Amino acid sequence: MQKTILITGASSGMGKAATILFAQHGWTVFAGARRTQLIPTGENIHPLALDVTDHASNSAFVAQAMTGQTRLDVLLNNAGYGEFGPLEEVPLKAARQQLETNLLGAADLTQLVLPLMRRQGFGRIINNSSIGGDMYSPLGGWYYVSKHALNVWSDTLDTEIRQFGLRSIVVEPGGTESNWSTIAMQHAQANLHPDSPYQALTTGFLTVFERFLGTSSATSADLAAVFYQAATAKRPHRRYFNACSDRLVARFARVHPEMFAQLMAWASRLALGVAKYARAK
Ligand SMILES: NC(=O)c1ccc[n+]([C@@H]2O[C@H](COP(=O)([O-])OP(=O)(O)OC[C@H]3O[C@@H](n4cnc5c(N)ncnc54)[C@H](OP(=O)(O)O)[C@@H]3O)[C@@H](O)[C@H]2O)c1
Repeated sequence: MQKTILITGASSGMGKAATILFAQHGWTVFAGARRTQLIPTGENIHPLALDVTDHASNSAFVAQAMTGQTRLDVLLNNAGYGEFGPLEEVPLKAARQQLETNLLGAADLTQLVLPLMRRQGFGRIINNSSIGGDMYSPLGGWYYVSKHALNVWSDTLDTEIRQFGLRSIVVEPGGTESNWSTIAMQHAQANLHPDSPYQALTTGFLTVFERFLGTSSATSADLAAVFYQAATAKRPHRRYFNACSDRLVARFARVHPEMFAQLMAWASRLALGVAKYARAK
């Protein structure tokens, strides 16, 4: 029987790539995003309007998708963005929106699909987190809060639903080609107050961050392949990483928190140095 997946954030990046990949493998894909016109079309793909921060939208998405369907194999909670900016200046309204999108949207959709998955006795919730669910850096505070919380939410959920034959799984991408970094950096600039004392840190950090992400070799298609592995593995892991380097960074931050904190303090000094050098030029 044809397998079915719900994918959030299917209009761009990893969600878009996953929509194409699962459809190519013959899955029925219900692909949601706010910009439905950007969701890929084709055989097996059903684009649907979705704003994960809106409970009515989430309910309608699941109801429309499941009408006439007899099974749901996977919910891929992928929609997300980075509300970057200094913690002193990011408006709490924006912080709430970050959590509504990256954490509570996933939780809401999960609550909507779990009754069906429990009844059928199989199903997986795949949560697209980030290595930022284990590590952190200057200026990404609310993003990291959302991804750390998503990880522990998923792990807790996994302990509760395994008894029903269900799993909750985390994928932790590192820097990946998509619109994510452009949007995160736009937020970092937009959240700065006029004459902000964090201007130099932000300028330097953006330079370093862009250089670092520019060297990333991961594509959204690579991550789609990781989602597919998590969806189809006979005995899925609790965590998936695309690259060994991503796994190493996440593990280093967890196992050596003091050393990691020192490294990030050094990263801040580096960013300030870069900004000073750029000003002097
Ligand atoms: N790229 C990276 O380097 C990276 C690294 C680690 C983790 N991640 C995570 O990977 C996930 C996918 O990001 P991406 O890299 O593919 O970025 P992207 O190209 O910017 O795609 C983000 C997707 O999320 C959707 N989205 C955002 N807010 C939404 C909302 N309220 N309701 C429904 N959909 C929403 C967007 O669709 P609409 O705007 O059309 O609604 C878009 O399809 C995110 O959770 C991100 O945090 C990315």
